[in-house]
Amino acid sequence: MTFGQRFVRFATDVVVRSPLLWRLFRGSVRGQFDRLAPMWDARRDPTAFAPVRAALERLDASPARVLDLGTGTGSVARILAERFPEAEIVGVDIAPRMLGEARAKTNASNVRYELADAQRLAFDDGAFELVTLGNMIPFFDELARVLAPGGHVVFAWSAGAETPIYVPPERLRAELGRRGFAEFAELAAGRGTAFVARKR
Ligand SMILES: C[S@@+](CC[C@H](N)C(=O)[O-])C[C@H]1O[C@@H](n2cnc3c(N)ncnc32)[C@H](O)[C@@H]1O
Repeated sequence: MTFGQRFVRFATDVVVRSPLLWRLFRGSVRGQFDRLAPMWDARRDPTAFAPVRAALERLDASPARVLDLGTGTGSVARILAERFPEAEIVGVDIAPRMLGEARAKTNASNVRYELADAQRLAFDDGAFELVTLGNMIPFFDELARVLAPGGHVVFAWSAGAETPIYVPPERLRAELGRRGFAEFAELAAGRGTAFVARKR
């Protein structure tokens, strides 16, 4: 891993254990992804989104409202738009240049992007039936708050445990279990993995 990748792995490990420490990392993480924005998509493996596609195939209902946290250049948001053409999809990110790329690359009329921090979102409680995180640091309290009862959360890691931003499934089960999630599923696709859970 590069220094930058090791740094985001370290930030992920710390923030999953102590979310309040995110304020120490926010500026550096945003700066790192703003710098990467112009070349982000060119560096991706063509199978990078196989895990998120496989996870979406597992969902038994079509959500009306979907939130993609850490949307970056919008790849997951565009997959969601294709999979759920009737849904309203919101992609959020802290890095303005990543969002600039996302807006330039997205034609779908049911997708919009917002500059926001996943640690504290301006959405109402239960505003979404599906929350997705592609290679993104999770803030469990906030994602659980904005997800409607019965809704799903999908975590996808493009290179499984080798993804720089990664949380192991046992940790996801523990964090989500104590916030009222159940029906956990783990899957593998391409070089990566995904994890699906349902909020009771
Ligand atoms: C590894 S990239 C993944 C981007 C995209 N989901 C993908 O898989 O191509 C992580 C993204 O999450 C964003 N991010 C990190 N922490 C965030 C936070 N607290 N709130 C919103 N976005 C965040 C970064 O700016 C970056 O665009």
